[in-house]
Amino acid sequence: MDVFDTQMGLTRAVAQARAAGKRIGFVPTMGALHDGHLSLVEMAKDVCDFVVVSIFVNPTQFAPGEDFEAYPRDTNRDVSMLGRVGVDGVYLPSVEEIYPNGAAVTVHAGTAAAGLESDFRPHFFDGVCSVVHRLFEIVRPDVAVFGEKDYQQLMVIREMVAAHEMGIEVIGAPIMRDVYGLALSSRNAYLSAEELEIARRLNMVLRSKHPTPDALIDAGFDKVDYIEERWGRRLAAAWIGKTRLIDNISA
Ligand code: PAF
Repeated sequence: MDVFDTQMGLTRAVAQARAAGKRIGFVPTMGALHDGHLSLVEMAKDVCDFVVVSIFVNPTQFAPGEDFEAYPRDTNRDVSMLGRVGVDGVYLPSVEEIYPNGAAVTVHAGTAAAGLESDFRPHFFDGVCSVVHRLFEIVRPDVAVFGEKDYQQLMVIREMVAAHEMGIEVIGAPIMRDVYGLALSSRNAYLSAEELEIARRLNMVLRSKHPTPDALIDAGFDKVDYIEERWGRRLAAAWIGKTRLIDNISA
């Protein structure tokens, strides 16, 4: 496995793999990897011959006051995990390489971004589209894998790839859950033992006969941003203290 701090080495390695007839798979991440990320990597490995994973905590998808500074970062651990699972390349770009003209939004999200997350994080999908578009330009994958936990994000990326005619197959990977059904997320690391118990009720309420904001509040959540159906999914975002969790199930 090669680790690339800059675009140059990565571009060369991908070009060589492509020239050898290999199909290039890509999994963009913000690090703090868990089994959910590794399942995306496995999916990419299943359908591709050369798999690249990027680790980049993207400043443009965080609003001032959100958890950009606090977002868990442990690159050495992440790289070791990727070494064990066996990827071909890890890309660790700098902010300057991703945003040569300053960390600013360069690509706007389409209609899939309307509502849900955007009602509460209006900056989010423009930031995601800007970084993913740039990463796609650099990596030039044939296939990219995203988790279905961020279901709206998956829809937004698919729309962007189609609108920009990027010719990349975007695959959604099923949500990985702990034994209590809690969707794996890097942000679960913020939860105390007591908060973790409440968090584990999110999927239960989503699956219940009365999946309402009140039911989430009764389950111990402090605030509910939404619980809504779209794309044949039931999606929710809710807060426990300072931690915001999202989840979705088939409706
Ligand atoms: O889902 C994520 O981890 C991020 O939003 C992504 C797609 C890596 C873009 O920064």
